[in-house]
Amino acid sequence: MCGIVGYVGKQAACGILLEGLKRLEYRGYDSAGLAIGAKDGLDVIKKVGRVENLIRAAAGVKETAHTGIAHTRWATHGRVTDINAHPHVSSDHKFALCHNGVIENYLAIKKFCENHGYTFQSETDTEALVNLIAYHYQKEPEAAGKNRFLTAVRKALLHVEGTYGIVALCADYPGEIVGARKGSPLVVGVGNGENMIASDISAFIGRTQNVIYLDDGQVVHLTAEDFDITTIADEAVDPVIAKVDWEIEQAELGHFTHYMAKEIFEQPVALENAIRGRFSDDQSTAKFGGLNIDPLQLRHVDRLLFCACGTAWHACLVAEYLIERFARIPVEVEYASEFRYRNAPLDKNTLVIVISQSGETIDTLEALREAKRKGFRTLAITNVVGSTIARETDGGIYQHAGPEIGVASTKAFTSQILLTAMMALYFGRLRDLSFTEGREMVEALRLVPGLTSQVLDQADKIKVIAKKYAQFEDFLFLGRQAMFPIALEGALKLKEISYIHAEGYPAAEMKHGPIALVSPECPSVFFAPRGEVLKKVISNIQEIRARKGPVICITSAPRDELPEDLANDIIRVPDAHEAVQPILFTIPIQLLAYYIACERNCDVDKPRNLAKSVTVE
Ligand code: G6P
Repeated sequence: MCGIVGYVGKQAACGILLEGLKRLEYRGYDSAGLAIGAKDGLDVIKKVGRVENLIRAAAGVKETAHTGIAHTRWATHGRVTDINAHPHVSSDHKFALCHNGVIENYLAIKKFCENHGYTFQSETDTEALVNLIAYHYQKEPEAAGKNRFLTAVRKALLHVEGTYGIVALCADYPGEIVGARKGSPLVVGVGNGENMIASDISAFIGRTQNVIYLDDGQVVHLTAEDFDITTIADEAVDPVIAKVDWEIEQAELGHFTHYMAKEIFEQPVALENAIRGRFSDDQSTAKFGGLNIDPLQLRHVDRLLFCACGTAWHACLVAEYLIERFARIPVEVEYASEFRYRNAPLDKNTLVIVISQSGETIDTLEALREAKRKGFRTLAITNVVGSTIARETDGGIYQHAGPEIGVASTKAFTSQILLTAMMALYFGRLRDLSFTEGREMVEALRLVPGLTSQVLDQADKIKVIAKKYAQFEDFLFLGRQAMFPIALEGALKLKEISYIHAEGYPAAEMKHGPIALVSPECPSVFFAPRGEVLKKVISNIQEIRARKGPVICITSAPRDELPEDLANDIIRVPDAHEAVQPILFTIPIQLLAYYIACERNCDVDKPRNLAKSVTVE
C-alpha cells in the first residue's frame, strides 16, 4: 500500500525514480510525488492522479540531481490533493520525507512541533514526522563521528507510535538517503556505484538483483558507494545480501494489454512452478523443503487454523474442504484481521497457517505474530521470497508464481489452491490416505498445468459470453462444497474490477434470501462439477430459471447428465480429480470478470480505491 522509491548514485535521479514509481504504481495510485536533492536545496513536485501526471509535471526537472525519493500514494490520512501527496517537506525546507503506514500519535507530535515554531500545510500524519526530524536536527549539535541527518531521523523515530516505512532526504546532505521501517516493508537494492531503496523490489529490479530486506526497527543510511544498517537504538546490524530470483521481463506486460490478462494466461507456468520437484513417487506423496517441522510433530497436530485476507482467504476456504476431505484434520478459517483481536481459544496442538501472495499484508502478518506470541507453530504460503511473512514464519512454502502485479489476484490464487491440495495430500499420507489414493492424487495434481491450458483455450468463447452480460448490475455466484469458495472468489473478482454488485453463496443457501434478487436483470453463475452434488445443483439452477433468472453454468459433467436447455450459457471445463476441480473452475470466472471489466472500460489493473499490498490495518 503506497509505493516508495529512493535512488542515490551517479545517474540523473529523476528518470530512475519515475521509472521505479511506474513499477510500484499497483501499490497505490491516487497521487504521486518526488523530491530530489541538489547543492542548492530540495526540489519537490507532487501531482494528484496517476504517475503519468507526475511524469508530465517533472519534464525539465534538474538532470543534475543524483539523489532523490519518490512516492505513489493510497490515501490514509487526508484527502487526495497535491498538498497531501508525498514527499512532505519540513517547514524549514531542510527535509523531505516519503512515508507508508500510519503515525498514531501524530496529533501530539504536530502540537509539539507547532509549539516549537514549525508550521503545517497538509492534513497528513507524515508532515508531523518530517517536522519532528527537522526539530531534532536543529536541536542536536554536530557530534564527532555521527551523521547529524541520520541521528535526527533516529531521534525522531524514538517518539513515533504506529507503523512506518520511510525514506528521507536532507538539503544539507545532497548525496545521502536515510530509510527506516517498522511495520511497512522496505528493501535496499545494492548496486554498482549506486544504491536504491523501495517498498518492493519491482522498483529497481532492472538495475540490481542484490537486495537487503530491512527488518522492523532498522535504519539504513545510503550513499552511492556504501550502505550502513543499524537499529533505531543505534546498534550495529550485520546485513544479509540476498539474490532476487526473477528477471525484469517477468514484471513487464509483453504483448498483453493488462497485467491481469497476462497473469491469467501465465497460470499453466505458475502452476508448473508450484509442483516442480515437490512429489515423491516412491511414497505417493508431496514433499516440501521448508516446513521446518518433522512428520512426527505433524502427526500430533490435531487442528489447523488458516488465516488470510481477500482472495488468499478464499484459498484458505478451499483448503478447508480439501484438507478435511483428504487428510481428515479439522480445519478452521479466520479472516486475519478478526483472528488478531478475537482471542479465540486454541488447542495446543493447533498449527497456524497463513496465506499471503505479497507476504506483507499487515493483518495477515499480525495474525502470524499473534499466533507465534501465543506459542503456536506457524507455516506460511507466500509468493514473494524474502517478504516479511516469509521471514517471520517458522516454516513455509513458496509459490514461485512469479511477480503478480494486477491488483486483482489470479495466478497467485490458483497456485495457493494447488499448494493446499498438495498439503492435503502430504498430511493425508501421514495419516489415513492409502498409497493408492496418494498415487491417484499425485497423478491428478501433475495434470493441473495442462488442464488449465485447456480451459484457457476457451477464452474467446468466454469473451463472447462476457459481452452478453456486461451491462447487468447484479450477479449471483452459486456453488456447493469446494465450489462455494470459488463462488465467493467469482463475486469478488467481478466486484473488484468491474464495480458490479455480486454475491457468492452456497448454492442451496440462495433459497434463504438471495433468491429474492433473482429476476431477468440478475444473472446467476453456477458451478456444477460432476460428482455427488451435481443433481442438487441442477435443481438449484432450475429454481432460478423458473423465476426467469439468466444462468451461466460452468460444468465438468458429461452432456448426458445435464438436462437440455439447463442454462442460457454453458462453459465446459475438463473433468478432473476432486482436488483439481476448484482450480479449473476458477479460470472461467477470472476470464469472465476480466472481459466484462474490459467491456465496461474499467481500469482493470488499477481498480478504484484498491491497492495490491495492504499494509495498513
Ligand atoms: C488486497 C488485494 C487482493 C489480495 C489481498 C490479500 O486486497 O487487492 O488481491 O487477495 O490484498 O493480499 P495478500 O498479498 O496477503 O495475498
